Amino acid sequence: MNHILKSQQFSRKALDALFAQTDHMRKLYDDTIGRKGLTALLQGQLIYPVFYEPSSRTRYSFCSAAANLGMRPIWTESAGEFSSAVKGESLEDTIRVLCEYDPTVIVLRHPKEGAAERAAAVVDKFGYKVSIINAGDGKGQHPTQALLDLYTIRRELGRIDGLRVTIGGDLLNGRAVRSLVYLLSKYKGVKLTLLSPKNLRLGTDLKQHLREHGVEFIETQNMKAALTSANIIYWTRIQKERGSKNNTLNLRIGPRELKWVSPDARILHPLPRVDEIDPAIDGDPRAAYFRQTKNGMFIRMALLQSVSA
Ligand code: NCD
Repeated sequence: MNHILKSQQFSRKALDALFAQTDHMRKLYDDTIGRKGLTALLQGQLIYPVFYEPSSRTRYSFCSAAANLGMRPIWTESAGEFSSAVKGESLEDTIRVLCEYDPTVIVLRHPKEGAAERAAAVVDKFGYKVSIINAGDGKGQHPTQALLDLYTIRRELGRIDGLRVTIGGDLLNGRAVRSLVYLLSKYKGVKLTLLSPKNLRLGTDLKQHLREHGVEFIETQNMKAALTSANIIYWTRIQKERGSKNNTLNLRIGPRELKWVSPDARILHPLPRVDEIDPAIDGDPRAAYFRQTKNGMFIRMALLQSVSA
């Protein structure tokens, strides 16, 4: 595996292998001697997180994952503000220049859909031995988020096949949702309930993909039914910076809505949350979103190892 650009590139077999490797990383990390040993794996290799959009989790979990494996992260606070893009440099030129300094990995977050693919094309055209990882390309995809989401589902409930998954919020412009839907469609018997304001429904391209893969799905605005029926509730914020507006639907999950959720279901959220999940429910064992963020570090350790091998 060279670049990580979109969810579709992962087969079921590759996902199983990745999750096994992620479990292995966690086990070593949780052991004092194991943790020390990990730092020898990619000792001294460079990783450049190049982020043209804001990020907390993705950037810090990639940097932590890299440091845990002995890599050295080198980055500027905000590429959108401080890189030569401000002077008018093309993404292609920036990537080519960065490749000259021999990083093993460039983790790219960019507001334009297709940016990671463009970066990977530069790497391949000039034969650099650099892996591009897509950490979010506009409304496009965020594959490493979806991988950690799926890993979290598997870890929390022990399975993915046959689950009822309710995905709620901004399904039109949320790239984490898009990447997750592609991944879920690889599993057997998954049933999706898609809850969103009518103007922020899942894109027709993805609905077509679901139909082609025989994935059952319904679209609804009924919160109570959507929460009651679910094994997994995947909640997301409205992507205001991408022009999304919600004036119609109350999407907040608080103590009242939590009563509708099954006792052995789990609530996930890629975070950041704004007001769609009340912090009053954070202590409930079904609220899995902070465990989910920690899983992100382990998935990224496994991914960094696989692209650096
Ligand atoms: C997501 C993103 O950037 O798309 N954030 C993240 O990486 N966890 C979700 C979001 O911003 O809503």
